[in-house]
Amino acid sequence: MGYSKIVGLGHHVPETVITNEYLASIMDTSNEWIVERTGIHERRFIDPSKDTVANMAAKATRMALERAGLTEKDIDLIVFATITPDYFFPGSGVLLQRELGLEGIPAIDIRNACSGFIYALSVADQFIKNGTYKTALVVGAEIQSTALDLTTRGRSTAVIFGDGAGVAILQPSDKPGVLSTHLHSDGKYAEELYVRDPGSSRPRSERQPEQILDTSTYKVYMNGNQVFKHAIVRFTEVIQEALDANDMTKDDINLLIPHQANLRISQYIQQKMGLSDEQVYNNIMRYGNTTAASIPIAMSEAWAEGKIKENDVICLAAFGSGFTWASALIRW
Ligand code: COA
Repeated sequence: MGYSKIVGLGHHVPETVITNEYLASIMDTSNEWIVERTGIHERRFIDPSKDTVANMAAKATRMALERAGLTEKDIDLIVFATITPDYFFPGSGVLLQRELGLEGIPAIDIRNACSGFIYALSVADQFIKNGTYKTALVVGAEIQSTALDLTTRGRSTAVIFGDGAGVAILQPSDKPGVLSTHLHSDGKYAEELYVRDPGSSRPRSERQPEQILDTSTYKVYMNGNQVFKHAIVRFTEVIQEALDANDMTKDDINLLIPHQANLRISQYIQQKMGLSDEQVYNNIMRYGNTTAASIPIAMSEAWAEGKIKENDVICLAAFGSGFTWASALIRW
């Protein structure tokens, strides 16, 4: 069995920039509080008359295809990670397949939240390695803004999340490639970071729109302290797991691209693992936490900035709702 290799990266973020100052003008928060606790300065919110999860993903795909010298018709598999699909069902994978005009190809939906992109990458990697498909499109795309409570009641999550899309295109290769992927979950903590509804296991009366009085269960709930505590442990564990599996040490990492959860989490991992500033990529300052989209957006930007070069070792790592956590080690 050979390897899969990333041959193209692309991303798209909505035009509208939402600054901390704007949020401070509509709820009881401040630029200082947000920057100090999260590192975020601004994020992008969609315009619902223009943007969808699928069409942002399509724009990111076109960027990646152009960079790779490929066309839509080359794609024979879509693996789409999102927890904010355009419809409750079907998932956004088929909407992207329709948008790209790729009739008949499979579209797999992955819903592992912030770890979703690495889960999706691992699925595509298997299919490419075993020869089933030749050009896999791996997507992370999210619209978080429309589920946020932009009042003081929702401030602990409203200041963190943003919208955007990123993709990677995978093809077979004799040389590495994706070296390994490592996936984990612990459902004990499912309710520490979740959107409860529209859940199916409810009395029928609670799912009939005309009877829903309390809509708070449709918003993001997050136990921030609990998430933070688990994230810093799992991130470092799963990065070390990827290094051990490939007989490497932290010095072999040219660039760590952590899921952009919170700048303080990235800084903690960097310090704990003894990585230099050049070894860690962060763009949460500009986009906030875009869940499954954060890693491919960051990877696409890092590549465009010349921070990912031939033969480099790139480490991806994520932690999020589930809880789930994951890593991937890639030789570029
Ligand atoms: N602006 C101003 N004050 C805020 C606020 C906001 N946006 N959000 C919360 N506060 C207040 C709280 O109400 C609380 O006030 P109180 O002390 O009077 O009760 C105070 O700030 C401290 O809240 P707390 O939740 O303890 O803050 P924190 O230091 O834990 O920071 C997070 C909150 C969310 C930034 C932090 O827990 C965190 O980063 N967690 C990880 C979240 C994450 O990464 N999620 C994504 C995972 S994929």
